[in-house]
Amino acid sequence: MVRKAVLPVAGWGTRFLPATKAMPKEMFPIIDKPVIQFIVEELLEAGIENIIFVTGRHKRPIEHHFDINTDLEKHLEEAGKREVLENIREISHMINPIYVRQKEQLGLGHAVLTAEPAVGGEPFLVSLGDIILEKGSEIVRGMVDTFQRFGKSVIALHEVEREEVKKYGIAKVKEIEEGVYIVEDLVEKPSPEEAPSNLAIVGRYVFTPKIFEMLRDTKPGKGGEIQLTDAMRLLLKEEVIYAYKVETRVYDTGNPVDYLKTVFEFAMKREDIKEELLAYLRNAISKQTQLIDRP
Ligand code: UTP
Repeated sequence: MVRKAVLPVAGWGTRFLPATKAMPKEMFPIIDKPVIQFIVEELLEAGIENIIFVTGRHKRPIEHHFDINTDLEKHLEEAGKREVLENIREISHMINPIYVRQKEQLGLGHAVLTAEPAVGGEPFLVSLGDIILEKGSEIVRGMVDTFQRFGKSVIALHEVEREEVKKYGIAKVKEIEEGVYIVEDLVEKPSPEEAPSNLAIVGRYVFTPKIFEMLRDTKPGKGGEIQLTDAMRLLLKEEVIYAYKVETRVYDTGNPVDYLKTVFEFAMKREDIKEELLAYLRNAISKQTQLIDRP
């Protein structure tokens, strides 16, 4: 039974500096909701309530976000802002989180290993704090079902453009029955020529506790960091790893361009924003085009 989820949120977020100097990228808003709340909601909808954050010293706003803010509640109450008050209260009572501190940012693999005392010897989920999935709770449920069926680790994969493979961990898979895949090999950030496929690891994993042993044996790799992909390669030698194909949209919020695309796509789903923003964009694009077309 998968009951716990680990959310590593201790990274530096260097691709987003200076914004991430004092503010976690996981707290960046998608219009008015921080990225991390989408991920927590996805887990709750999938029935996973035990959430373990792996945090660091500059990640306090995440703890505050899921805590009670009595001053704010009092202010909203006095101002008669009932609707927003209810929303704020709901977030404060959403989860009973556990926070584990990663004292040095030694990589994603190291962050997951830091959570071991809180996870114990049971299977668990890992959800990355900067990736939002469309229909994420269905995907998490599907991964957990695959785990229940086979009792082995399951990783989520999605198709990326060939030229994009160099940004991701890429998996070679084999279909063993309709819609069920096993992982044969994993390569971290290959060139398009070297890549064994265009299936990228997408930030959702179900692991057997054996991954902790593998993480302990993993030597620092790229950038001196303990890479989760390297530990998964070790795990592959001991256990089968299943793959779960994500067919929905994957929103990466960890770099400026993809973050802006994510905000835009969510804005297009908001009736209170869509029309005004589109009108603005039409105007802005026509101005830009006139500038480009000017001889
Ligand atoms: P990223 O690869 O996005 O790294 O980590 P990062 O440091 O956050 O960002 P960049 O690459 O410097 O811009 C993937 C996830 O793993 C967490 C991050 O917080 C992010 O959610 N992570 C990474 C840790 O918790 N600890 C680490 O040491 C590294």
